[in-house]
Amino acid sequence: MNSYRLARPFLFALDTETSHAVGLRSFQLLRTLQQCVGLEGRVPEASPVELFGLKFANRIGLAAGADKNAQYIDTLGGMGFGFIEVGTMTPLPQPGRDKPRLFRLQDQQALINRMGFPNEGVEIIASRIERRTYSGIVGANISVNAATPVERFTDDFVTCFRRVRDTADYVAINISSPNTKNLRDMHDEARLRELFTRLVAERGQKALPILMKISPDLDEHQLAEMARLALDLRVDGLIATNTTVGRSAIPNHPQASEAGGLSGRPLFALAAQTVTRLRTLVGSRVAIVGVGGILSADDYARMRDAGADLVQVYTGLVYQGPALVREILQRERRKA
Ligand SMILES: Cc1cc2nc3c(=O)[nH]c(=O)nc-3n(C[C@H](O)[C@H](O)[C@H](O)COP(=O)(O)O)c2cc1C
Repeated sequence: MNSYRLARPFLFALDTETSHAVGLRSFQLLRTLQQCVGLEGRVPEASPVELFGLKFANRIGLAAGADKNAQYIDTLGGMGFGFIEVGTMTPLPQPGRDKPRLFRLQDQQALINRMGFPNEGVEIIASRIERRTYSGIVGANISVNAATPVERFTDDFVTCFRRVRDTADYVAINISSPNTKNLRDMHDEARLRELFTRLVAERGQKALPILMKISPDLDEHQLAEMARLALDLRVDGLIATNTTVGRSAIPNHPQASEAGGLSGRPLFALAAQTVTRLRTLVGSRVAIVGVGGILSADDYARMRDAGADLVQVYTGLVYQGPALVREILQRERRKA
């Protein structure tokens, strides 16, 4: 039995948010101790890949939300991730929604969250990204403050973009969190066109990939529109998907009525289906990052088969611990 399995009952006895923080701090401490005694866990190598001009040591990454404030990049890097997406960060620091705002649906290997982007603000977070020692790829996931009126959303994205453009390896535009009022309206064509035009102008000659993170709750027509726009605007990559507001995968669950986004096992089918549809729509011209309900190396393989170039995990890490990353990397290595 791996050490995370042993520790999990103690972590899960804590309230959900505290257990995430304690879990990450424990990994950090463990890694420091291992480094002190020269016993760093060896991470299996896997095949490197080059996508949108960046070289990834492997295809497995950490999804946004797990390291919102970029405090654990080096610790998480030590688990073997080929890329880490920090944030979501907003221009100003903000506390997020009222607690409780994170719920564990253990029997479903799922979470429901309505965090609402608690974060220390782009200034502090960007300076932490600058101080990293992790040599893998770091993406900055950016969005808008809760108090910003909808007509100023683009300004918030631009403010964050300016601060991270010289420090992050890629920027992910988060228009798909269900927990910030009106944010999903940014899937609208005119708004997206305006946003991208401004970001591309801010990017100038710099080779900084811009990715867009989309919702799993778009209908076929909306998804086709997103794909068309991604091609038209030359978006470097689509991250599919964020959490779902749908509850059809957990009918009658006692916690199904909690407001927020559902992640983990019940999201997998919807996320993989979104990736398959997107791949058909964009062909090989836009990279796709598949995310949603990856809890095993088999899930990872299925997400790759669905058409994902890269894969991210979050909820799977909560339930399986760092062994999930090792298991996926070992599978990749055997395949190579
Ligand atoms: C507690 C929690 C917080 C999250 N916060 C963010 C966030 O700040 N920004 C974002 O783009 N996605 C966020 N997500 C969504 C994840 O990045 C991911 O898209 C989603 O959870 C599906 O993947 P998973 O099933 O592997 O968790 C969050 C997810 C969870 C569970």
